[in-house]
Amino acid sequence: MEKDKAKPVSFSQTTITELMIPSYANFGGKIHGGILLSLMDKVAFATASKHSGAYCVTVSVDTVDFLQPVAVGELVSLKGSVNYVGNSSMVIGIKVIAENVKSGTVKHTNTCYFTMVAKGDDDKPTQVPKLILESKTDVRRFVEAIFRKKLKKDHKEKMEAMKKSWDKDEMSRLLENERCIIES
Ligand SMILES: CC(C)(COP(=O)(O)OP(=O)(O)OC[C@H]1O[C@@H](n2cnc3c(N)ncnc32)[C@H](O)[C@@H]1OP(=O)(O)O)[C@@H](O)C(=O)NCCC(=O)NCCS
Repeated sequence: MEKDKAKPVSFSQTTITELMIPSYANFGGKIHGGILLSLMDKVAFATASKHSGAYCVTVSVDTVDFLQPVAVGELVSLKGSVNYVGNSSMVIGIKVIAENVKSGTVKHTNTCYFTMVAKGDDDKPTQVPKLILESKTDVRRFVEAIFRKKLKKDHKEKMEAMKKSWDKDEMSRLLENERCIIES
């Protein structure tokens, strides 16, 4: 089938640009983080569905750090690119930049990684096409995604092991120098 053929990264690279309007702002006059998250989800969906030729769902979002505030009137561009494909999953790298059209300044507000899964007509995960890595950057991003996946798995396992080993005394000791008061 045509949609099972390997596709290059460039085939599905997608950019969404949106003007930050006043209704997107919080009480401090800056753009709500949730507005940016919603735009990231849109570009992740567009990129993943283009690569897979299927309906996709968001499974996981890794490290969304808002490095700089975004102001009303700025043009926000979100660039999505497939960094990695598994069987049914795809990691979409998203770079967000905000541009002040009057001053010409461009700031990089964040980079994050959405894991999307392609679903078939039966609503079950379905295989996605292989990814053709055309540049050194494509190769580096694919390898980085594998490492990130492994680190996440290790982190999850360590957290689970630690949680099992904590008793009340151990938790009190860990919280000794923290800014909290234990009342229970
Ligand atoms: C994602 C979902 C399809 C996984 O279904 P499942 O029956 O557990 O399927 P699998 O275990 O085979 O996982 C499918 C893929 O998702 C990946 N996956 C599952 N959970 C994951 C997680 N937390 N982080 C990263 N990848 C994950 C698996 O590694 C697998 O990847 P692969 O096919 O490339 O090897 C299912 O959990 C789902 O539909 N979740 C809801 C998604 C949704 O509605 N999102 C919108 C937000 S409300």
